[in-house]
This record gives sequence, structure tokens and C-alpha cells, in this order.
Amino acid sequence: MKILVTYTSMTGRNEKIAKYLADYLEQKQAEVTLEQIIDTDAYELDDYNAVIVDTYTYNDGEVPDEAKDFFDDLEDVDLHRTKFAVLGSSSKAHLHFGRAVDYFTMQLNSSNGEQAADSVKIDQDPDKNDFERINRLADTVLNSLK
Ligand SMILES: Cc1cc2nc3c(=O)[nH]c(=O)nc-3n(C[C@H](O)[C@H](O)[C@H](O)COP(=O)(O)O)c2cc1C
Repeated sequence: MKILVTYTSMTGRNEKIAKYLADYLEQKQAEVTLEQIIDTDAYELDDYNAVIVDTYTYNDGEVPDEAKDFFDDLEDVDLHRTKFAVLGSSSKAHLHFGRAVDYFTMQLNSSNGEQAADSVKIDQDPDKNDFERINRLADTVLNSLK
């Protein structure tokens, strides 16, 4: 089971979440690649059985600038062989809480990807309940690959 966890993070929350998620998946015997969205080539996503995108939201509900090239490239790829899931820490103190998670979910759906788990939005730092939601997302993705 080859899984890509690709993330973007300005102040470190999503970096921690992505690392936690990658460790969790590895403990369950998945072969995990962890990288930043800015280094991820959308045209190589079908090398993986599943891709998990972890993003914050910026500027009144926008996809972060450094993730926009990847986001736009997703329009040109066909992910019918690739399962996906999306999660991210953003903030309820801002407008459009976690909207980038919604945008990525829609974009990956439009690219024919199969959504393997419900998207997870986390308010700022993850608490115990959020880590359980992250575990559930990971387990659901893994089960979808069996
Ligand atoms: C200038 C600025 C704009 C932001 N805009 C939004 C927003 O529109 N919606 C949202 O849900 N969160 C917004 N956030 C909150 C971040 O997404 C949140 O702090 C997130 O946890 C940062 O993740 P990171 O630590 O991985 O960078 C904004 C934060 C900043 C500093």
C-alpha cells in the first residue's frame, strides 16, 4: 500500500499533523511518502494507491499560495486509480473555516479520484478528539485499500 501524505504549513500545525499521520500509517505497515505540497507533482499521483492532502486555509478562505500550482495541475490529471482524503488545521476565528479543505476535496473529486474518507477540519492545534479523528481517517483510507 503506497500512500502519499502531502502537506503545507506556515506555522507548523499541519506539518505536525502530517508527520503524526505518516507515523500512524507506517505503524499499520503502509509504505508512506511524506512531502510538502510545493514539492508534489500532480502528474505523479497515480504512482500511489492513495493520496492524503493536509492543508491550512489562508486569506478569507483561500488555498495557500504555495499550494496553488499543485491545485491547478489537478485539473489536468485523471485519478481514477487513486483514492484520496483531505484534512487540515485552520481556524474558526477566521471567515470560511477550513475552506481550502473543501476546495481540495472538490478538486480531487473532479479529477476522478475516489474519496476514501470524509474530510477532517481541525480548529488550530489538534486536541485528543482531533487525533482520534485523524486516526479514523487513516484507518478508513487503509481499509479502502484492502
Ligand atoms: C493571515 C491569515 C489568514 C487566515 N485565513 C484563514 C481563513 O480564511 N480560514 C481559516 O479557516 N483559517 C484561516 N487562517 C488560520 C490558519 O489556517 C490556521 O492558523 C492554521 O492552523 C495554520 O496552519 P499551519 O500552522 O500549518 O500554518 C488564517 C491565518 C492567517 C495568519
